[in-house]
Amino acid sequence: MTTMMRDPAIRVRAITKSYKDLHVLRGVDFDVAAGSIFALLGSNGAGKTTLVRILSTLLKANTGTATVHGFDVSSAPGDVRRSISLTGQFAAVDEVLTGRENLVLVAKLRHLKNPGAIADDMLARFSLADAGNRRAATYSGGMRRRLDIAMSLVGNPPVVFLDEPTTGLDPQARIEVWQTVKQLAKDGTTILLTTQYLDEAEQLADRIAILHKGTIIQNGTLAELKQLLPSAKVEYVEKQPTLEDVFLALVGDTSDTVDKAAMSVGGESR
Ligand SMILES: Nc1ncnc2c1ncn2[C@@H]1O[C@H](COP(=O)(O)OP(=O)(O)O)[C@@H](O)[C@H]1O
Ligand SMILES: [Mg+2]
Repeated sequence: MTTMMRDPAIRVRAITKSYKDLHVLRGVDFDVAAGSIFALLGSNGAGKTTLVRILSTLLKANTGTATVHGFDVSSAPGDVRRSISLTGQFAAVDEVLTGRENLVLVAKLRHLKNPGAIADDMLARFSLADAGNRRAATYSGGMRRRLDIAMSLVGNPPVVFLDEPTTGLDPQARIEVWQTVKQLAKDGTTILLTTQYLDEAEQLADRIAILHKGTIIQNGTLAELKQLLPSAKVEYVEKQPTLEDVFLALVGDTSDTVDKAAMSVGGESR
């Protein structure tokens, strides 16, 4: 893998963050290889959004360091911001506008040349060309989320943060968003996504890190994580552990912080 030889697109070292007495991040370390999809998996309240906000310069860590696209988040926040997109941050879909108008608006706000051409390109990339001249209010949940992601990607930032990109979407819409994310990574974008859905991490990620009680308790490929559990022999058929088996074994399925409903594999359960 050539990506392993380049400097990581994201480097996180010993990051801590507390809200008063609540120690949310207790020393988080990981690297994200350039051009890869990295899933940060954790239950509700594990600290995923807190970490994403630190990496996107919206929040300061108490201690530790992080670089994004080679820039230090605390000493070069402007350079970091120019290198990233964060879904939901700049990209608030305006329902009164059409999909195309939303994209043109973002391109203008970013002082890009040919906003109309950029909008058309994005509509095509996100399979929204046919719906481009319809008001966003008429879009399905999946279309709206795709538009939201498209808006955050205007200007082609090399690093993209997707904080729970499919939470609240129905199963069909989730699959549409997954296809979008996969296409983005194929185009060379580095993607850090957070999720509380095991199947989402399983579907999308080159590497999966599990954030639990303030630290990364495991970090590896899906195959590596599955190797943490021995496969069980059931009659004559070898049963491979699922990521769900691995996750529950690691964090303990009686853990008070695990929201069982949210962790169940599947689309709409929250
Ligand atoms: N601004 C804040 N002030 C106090 N507590 C917060 C704040 N933001 C988040 N928290 C708490 O920090 C913990 C982690 O939150 P968050 O990073 O949003 O988790 P996740 O995104 O994994 O669900 C939660 O217990 C949450 O209630
Ligand atoms: Mg969150």
